[in-house]
Amino acid sequence: MEISHLSDSLGAEVSGVNLATVDAVEAELIKKIFHQHQILLFRNQEISIVEHINFSKYFGPLEVHISKDSLHKNHEEILLVSNVKENGKYIGVENAGDSWHSDLSYMPKPSLGSLLYALEVSEIGGDTEWLSMYDAYDTLPEDTKNRIHGLKARHSFNRYKNKRIGVPKQRQQGGRERYEKISPPDVFHPVVRTHPETGKKALYISPRFTIGILDGSDDEGQDLLDELIEHSIQRKFIYHHEWRVGDLIMWDNRCTLHLACRGIPEGQIRHMHRTTISGDIPV
Ligand code: OGA
Ligand code: MN
Repeated sequence: MEISHLSDSLGAEVSGVNLATVDAVEAELIKKIFHQHQILLFRNQEISIVEHINFSKYFGPLEVHISKDSLHKNHEEILLVSNVKENGKYIGVENAGDSWHSDLSYMPKPSLGSLLYALEVSEIGGDTEWLSMYDAYDTLPEDTKNRIHGLKARHSFNRYKNKRIGVPKQRQQGGRERYEKISPPDVFHPVVRTHPETGKKALYISPRFTIGILDGSDDEGQDLLDELIEHSIQRKFIYHHEWRVGDLIMWDNRCTLHLACRGIPEGQIRHMHRTTISGDIPV
């Protein structure tokens, strides 16, 4: 296995590994590298759905996503991140990740990590970015660190409750009713969490799912949340990825945020499979 850095802040490309045939010993090594670099890129992978699922399971049990209408028909562990349409309807989540977020942070036990595998990519657009929430935390002014110590934030899947991101005009499949129906109850997580493996502190908020901070004031800390979001989303913390067919990227949802950059022209296809690893209650 060879490792090269993807950006100054986070990420590594791992070459010399075939994800279809990884054994438990190799998986342990990959886990160590994963904890060091937060996101890992494996290029030129040719893996079946079952191989994708089996590789993912080395890192923990898998989640079945709450977007039931976007799951693979025969493998519920696979979320389709795709703009393919069948009978006029998207077969998967077309708008996945269009604001900075950490997967499943709206759940009592958010996801540990996700593995996204590119089967078809658009010629233009469709890039993804990741940023390090370790770096976002570490670079906060000392007084802000003291101020947010012990605070909790409210996370919600329902984007209609989120003033920060709004709702794009062309909402796919269902709109408000769909969100009301499938959104779990809001949850509260620490604003700063300690990574269970590395022991490092990371900011744990996002514009997509965090809708308030409980700082004891009436406005639920909206100004503080704005400040933390603005501080987190800085170019120097970001890795920008242009996908190729056969790329698999796994990322750590406990210490990173990610964003779908979009910009795919009408008629171009981007088709990906995602697995989602279950995680712990953030502390
Ligand atoms: C995801 C996600 C972003 C993208 O799959 O969790 O946010 O660019 N994807 O597809
Ligand atoms: Mn995501």
